[in-house]
Amino acid sequence: ELTVHEHAHELGNVTRALRSTGLTVTLVPTMGALHEGHRELIRRARSVPNSVTVVSIFVNPLQFGPGEDFERYPRTLDADLELCRAEGVELVFHPDRAELYGPEPQITLNAGPLGDDLEGASRPGHFDGVLTVVAKLFGVVRPDLALFGEKDYQQLVLLRRMAWELALGVKVQGVPIMRDADGLALSSRNRYLEPEQRRAALALSAALVAGHYAGPRGPQAVLDAAREVLDTEPAVHVDYLELRDRELGAAPADGEGRLLVAAKVGGTRLIDNALVVLG
Ligand code: PAJ
Repeated sequence: ELTVHEHAHELGNVTRALRSTGLTVTLVPTMGALHEGHRELIRRARSVPNSVTVVSIFVNPLQFGPGEDFERYPRTLDADLELCRAEGVELVFHPDRAELYGPEPQITLNAGPLGDDLEGASRPGHFDGVLTVVAKLFGVVRPDLALFGEKDYQQLVLLRRMAWELALGVKVQGVPIMRDADGLALSSRNRYLEPEQRRAALALSAALVAGHYAGPRGPQAVLDAAREVLDTEPAVHVDYLELRDRELGAAPADGEGRLLVAAKVGGTRLIDNALVVLG
């Protein structure tokens, strides 16, 4: 039986009571418009033994920049609740802005140097907003475990670091990227794409595949192979294509790396990434 809570103190009371019976709490934070990528996170949460799943649905204004899509971000609460029900989710937290932030929020988190890198270079303040809202969700829900997709790889790295550096007592775990059959990484923003743009967007995942297979030939070969695929698609305007280590520090010469791409297709900004094994 699914219960939806709009009030933080109510949900906090419920999760506290559940924890006192010996259950753990697993949190899946989302902005709604749930798709198969979110469903995978929810399934993983549901498969944790002796744990109750909380899905939060909140379009967080703090992580959208001026000129970004906060106003038009898809809001599909009824369908989202239906998906949660179908997956056996016990609790949904759906606060409004005032409930979560109050009238005048004064305190926010700073994501540090990695917050200004990669996605952060194009979206100033974005990760400060992500960390602030997730820290608040952790405070309300008090989860033992929180799941995030590798789709937003930099977000995952930063949140894991936040949980560790601030000793929040939450285990942050990543979930592999879910893709459409043709390779496009699932995203709530894919619905902005016209059919022709959607086709062009396949260059992102195709570039990552090419980069992945070039891994044995070294870092430069990876970047060249990926760039060559992206260059075939004039409608794809690349913001960055970078090879890093798994914590998003400088690229290693061998071993595991992460290949990350961001591009604009029309007005829609898309991101994707993949594991690459070098050397
Ligand atoms: P949102 O974009 O709704 O994504 C919620 C979670 O789903 C994130 O952890 C994201 O990485 C994951 N996800 C999205 N698409 C995925 C895919 N194709 N495969 C696997 N996982 C996928 O990310 C956010 O919301 C927000 O920044 C949030 C963390 C909720 C803070 O506001």
